[in-house]
Amino acid sequence: MTADNLHKIDTAKLDEIINMYDGKKSNLIAILQKVQEVYRYLPEDAMIYIGTKMDGLSPATVFGVATFYAQFSLEPKGKFEVKVCDGTACHVRGSMPVLNAIKARLDLKDGQMTTNDGLFSLETVSCLGACGLAPVVVINGKVYPQMTSDAIKIVLDTLLKEEQ
Ligand code: FES
Repeated sequence: MTADNLHKIDTAKLDEIINMYDGKKSNLIAILQKVQEVYRYLPEDAMIYIGTKMDGLSPATVFGVATFYAQFSLEPKGKFEVKVCDGTACHVRGSMPVLNAIKARLDLKDGQMTTNDGLFSLETVSCLGACGLAPVVVINGKVYPQMTSDAIKIVLDTLLKEEQ
C-alpha cells in the first residue's frame, strides 16, 4: 500500500482512534465502531490502514470482522439513515408499499442504497421491537410510527426542505 491510497481518509484521526483503545486488537470492534461514527461507514482505506498499523492484525482480518457484523456498513451511508422495519408485524401492515414510496421519492434504483447527493440511505431491518406501532420507519434514530406511503413522503419532503 502506498500513501497515495490513503488520500481519502484522515490517518491522524485513525491514529487517534487506535490510540484511544491502546492499539489493542481485542478492541478492534470498538475501534471500527468509532471509525464508522466518523465516516458513517467503514471506508476500505481505513480498514487497510488499521490492519496494517495495529500489531497482530492484517487488512484481511479487519475486513473479515467488518463483514461478519451486520452493524458495520462497507458502503457510504447518507446524512439521513432511513430504516424500514420489515419484521413480520410491519410487513403484514404494509412496510413494502412504504419502502417503495421511499425509493420512488428518493429516486433510488434497485440495489442502490444511498442517494447520489449522499443525503439519504435506505435499508430494511428486522423487528425493531415496536410492533404495536407497525409499520415503523426510523430515521437517524427517530421512530416514525404507523407509516403509510403518503405519510412517509411528507416526512421526506420536510427533511429535504430543511436541507435546502
Ligand atoms: S415487526 Fe416491525 S417493529 Fe416489530
